[in-house]
Amino acid sequence: MCYVVVGKAYVEGAVRDVSILVEGGVIKSLNAKPPEGCRVIQFSKRHLVLPGFVDIHVHFRDWGLAHKETLAGGARAALAGGVVAVMDMPNTRPHIRTAELFRKRLEEGAGLPVIYRLHMGVPQDLSELAKARPSTVKVYPEDVASFGWPHIEALLSECSRLGCTAVFHCEDPALFSGPSRPPEAEAKCADRAALYAKMGYRIHVTHVSLPYTVRALRGLATLDATPHHLFLSSDSCRAGGLCRVNPPLRPEEQRRELLSLFLRGYVDMYATDHAPHTLEEKLSQDPPPGICSLDVAASLLLRLWRDGLLGLDDAVRLYSHRPSSFAGVSTAIWPGRPANFAVFRLEEFAVSRQDFRGSCRFSPLEGLRAFGRAVAVAAKGALHLLESGEVVS
Ligand code: DOR
Ligand code: ZN
Repeated sequence: MCYVVVGKAYVEGAVRDVSILVEGGVIKSLNAKPPEGCRVIQFSKRHLVLPGFVDIHVHFRDWGLAHKETLAGGARAALAGGVVAVMDMPNTRPHIRTAELFRKRLEEGAGLPVIYRLHMGVPQDLSELAKARPSTVKVYPEDVASFGWPHIEALLSECSRLGCTAVFHCEDPALFSGPSRPPEAEAKCADRAALYAKMGYRIHVTHVSLPYTVRALRGLATLDATPHHLFLSSDSCRAGGLCRVNPPLRPEEQRRELLSLFLRGYVDMYATDHAPHTLEEKLSQDPPPGICSLDVAASLLLRLWRDGLLGLDDAVRLYSHRPSSFAGVSTAIWPGRPANFAVFRLEEFAVSRQDFRGSCRFSPLEGLRAFGRAVAVAAKGALHLLESGEVVS
């Protein structure tokens, strides 16, 4: 029940040579002489051990949408990307709006090889919140359209009483016209979310797509941005239905400005909104919105480090430390902490279909330059050696 990972690691803000002794899934020491009988896994200088990445926005589907993705497939995608913990979204079929469904899903997620958390959906009957006690509730534009803002405000008040955070997909559906979702819909919702935050409600706005949203909410709410809004634009994405996503990709000039704000530390977290659909659906006349990126998200982020645009500490803060405290998970590489880390081989590559391990194996992010491939991931007491498929504990 022990193993030692030997190599370079990012520990408490610095890269140093370590021997991470893990016993029973817990880091015992960082400079151990391997005890008798412990498996030693040695990595070369071209590898780097990083705190495990944590993704607070994924869609693992399953249930009535298992043809798009399953819990097990989603977990494979996470491990492939060096992600040790995920927060799944409640827009499953059925949508998770009751304490009973919330618990059922958490029980199913508990069997996965990665740490599984779940955002609750907006309940029709708000007393479900006190029964489920979620740490977060996800508010979709569709919830606003069907329940109205007064219901969302009652939810904020109940959430505040219970100590939970409202996570907004921030687009005001009053400004949608047919399938078109103009930027004003996000801007209007951002203004409203800023007001709610000023009233003292704890708000997180996910997948910000406009520089305006970042400026309107900075310091009031926490924010995350996705790889697709940071790296793709409505001008550059040429893959038809594969580029369809909500909020939509924005023009190149706005994407650059969003990336610049992200690089300057104005966005709290990086999160994928990994949203699998089948290739057939994405190539159809009316493609559903959603982009897959969980398997390659960390590598796209680490490319910014490689290019000198982001510090390693910033990358770790954006995709590990901040989201890990949001999700209530520990990813620090430190004695006494659970072993939640990932080993990356430091090489450049262009994203391709071969990099995907979940059910969704295509993405408009294909072709982008990436840096660092996850080769081993420690999570929930096991070390997954991704290239041999071996699991060490
Ligand atoms: O692009 C999106 N896909 N945006 C959403 O809000 C939902 C998601 C999905 O579940 O497919
Ligand atoms: Zn989503």
